[in-house]
Amino acid sequence: MTIPALAIPAEKLPRHVAMIMDGNGRWAIQRGYPRLAGHKAGTENLRRVIRSTVEFGIKYLTIYAFSTENWGRPPEEVMGLMRILEDVIDRELAELSKEGVQLRHIGRLERLAPKIQSKVLQAVELTKHNDRLVLNVAFNYGGRDEIVQAIQRIIKDGVPISEVSDQLVSRYLYTAGVPDPDLIIRTSGELRVSNFLIWQAAYAEWYITPTFWPDFDKEEYRHALETFANRDRRFGGVAPVALGKGSNA
Ligand code: IPE
Ligand code: IPE
Ligand code: MG
Repeated sequence: MTIPALAIPAEKLPRHVAMIMDGNGRWAIQRGYPRLAGHKAGTENLRRVIRSTVEFGIKYLTIYAFSTENWGRPPEEVMGLMRILEDVIDRELAELSKEGVQLRHIGRLERLAPKIQSKVLQAVELTKHNDRLVLNVAFNYGGRDEIVQAIQRIIKDGVPISEVSDQLVSRYLYTAGVPDPDLIIRTSGELRVSNFLIWQAAYAEWYITPTFWPDFDKEEYRHALETFANRDRRFGGVAPVALGKGSNA
């Protein structure tokens, strides 16, 4: 089966795409706007990207919206980002739910304002039976923080040492039950992980583009997916073609 909008066979599509939505601030500064205008434009773009993800038939999307390190930004910007999260839930929830999007949150919810916590929990509850797209929103998320809390819970549960395995650790992460990301897209050209899905990304493919997040459009998304479809994922093994050609066996 081929996805009509894509010309990529379904089995070559990533099951799980994760995105580091970076470059909102620079997008705004370039236009002489305040940084928060960049975050607003980024939010508009997110709506389009979610819609394209559903259309492309991708089952899991994870978006990095606020990191545990982003608290270090000026208070007005932090407050603005919190307000944007609230506004997005207020304005978009019904529509997202109608489109079959299941919302999940990854990160430390308990460190957010109580009003935001209850909005997030309501959104998760309302959409929990939707199954077209699972959308993980990484808000107040940090990969190291996630691993630290997993270790704490493993110890608290008294898990015997012999039972601590890759699979067990994965089950203690915020992403329990979600397949690892196949493709991670980072906009704005930075060549770093910035504490995103550091455990889950062990064998993810990366697509990094200089485009700032508000300008990352459907065409470029399609290009990222096509690039992914042509990658040779070896997972530490040897590509079958190389085996055939190169060996004397
Ligand atoms: C990404 O855009 C959004 C968040 C981190 C919340 P930035 O705000 O990091 O934009 P730049 O990197 O400063 O341009
Ligand atoms: C990563 O972007 C976090 C999010 C996109 C939410 P940052 O802009 O915070 O990352 P650094 O500071 O460039 O590493
Ligand atoms: Mg940035």
